Amino acid sequence: MFDHPDYDSHEKVLMVEDAESGLKAIIAVHSTALGAAAGGCRLWTYDSPGAALSDALRLSRGMSYKNAMANLPMGGGKAVILGSVPAEKRTAVMQAFGRAVDSLNGQYITAEDVGVSVSDMEIVATTTKHVGGLAAGAGKSGGDPSPYTARGVRVGIESAVHAKMGRRELAGLSVAVQGLGHVGMYLCEELYHLGANLIVADINPARVSEAQARFGAVGVSVDDILTQAVDIVAPCALGSTITEYAARYIRAGIVAGAANNQLATAEAGRILAERGILYAPDYVINAGGIIMVQGELSGDNDTAVVTAKVDAIGDRLDAIFKRAVSDNVITNEVADAMARDKLNAAWAKPSAMGEKRALSRT
Ligand code: NAI
Repeated sequence: MFDHPDYDSHEKVLMVEDAESGLKAIIAVHSTALGAAAGGCRLWTYDSPGAALSDALRLSRGMSYKNAMANLPMGGGKAVILGSVPAEKRTAVMQAFGRAVDSLNGQYITAEDVGVSVSDMEIVATTTKHVGGLAAGAGKSGGDPSPYTARGVRVGIESAVHAKMGRRELAGLSVAVQGLGHVGMYLCEELYHLGANLIVADINPARVSEAQARFGAVGVSVDDILTQAVDIVAPCALGSTITEYAARYIRAGIVAGAANNQLATAEAGRILAERGILYAPDYVINAGGIIMVQGELSGDNDTAVVTAKVDAIGDRLDAIFKRAVSDNVITNEVADAMARDKLNAAWAKPSAMGEKRALSRT
């Protein structure tokens, strides 16, 4: 574990197996230096347990960076549930997952991610209180974080358009949206109302049909979505879709979307930059959902307050894009440096969870 390529001095990695429900899960706590490690729970059928471990390690580190950059008093963590869960076992699996979260005594706070819904988190909440993304009352934010994530991505796209084209208006621009899940569909809605033209793809044809019917989107195959002749590519499916190969063939001037860990390799980021393609660092642009969850957990969750915090994602990206130009450094490296500075400052102090820890090796 300590030599694993994705291990980054994670504070804790919990392997969970519950024989009764069949739950197999990994909970990775990357850092509690800034507060309890918060990050969603992903349910996915991985090619191997090793792939699940890599995902948990990478995603939890990304959450430390995301929460630090969003100025949230929270550290970074993530959970993955392995395999497909039969419908009749779902409640038992979510209850068992909640018990595992609870065993960490608040060091990790969970919420929704890919494959997991608000109703799942309502079940998790029956066995642990360390959970966000639950339904909220009128005028308060809570429940599904995806609309907030989508709003932040839309604001981030406007910021990228400003940096690249000197305007913020999206009317008449074309956007290729990869993945029409919770976030992708809400993003299409935001973009459609602002007059953008949509090209979409999803492995689920029903989602494509819905986007065609609601937003006049043009559906294309999942193999062709990234290389469309559009202004913006918005990856909103799973991570690592911007491979070095894809980076060489993308025709858009901007890559800005919701997916975590969009760049398959650091080299893919460099190829985008060399080709003059502006990349919005994923963990900065997609922080809307966790901003909402933090509001919900802290009780400071008036919708207007949370929305204003989400909209500040645009200011942060404006600053990153400016610094990338002034320092001649690529955007994701600017963001990484800013996030590491914040984490290292916190790591130098006793951690918020009462432990002293070493500086990150990243
Ligand atoms: P989701 O599971 O609702 O949607 C993912 C969609 O991508 C599904 O419709 C799926 O069919 C589609 N898909 C999968 N592989 C594909 C491929 N190769 N090509 C095209 N479509 C494909 O997930 P959700 O919640 O919408 O999240 C999307 C991404 O955004 C994920 O990477 C997630 O980690 C990230 N994210 C989500 C947040 C949220 O608030 N839900 C917050 C921050 C990041």
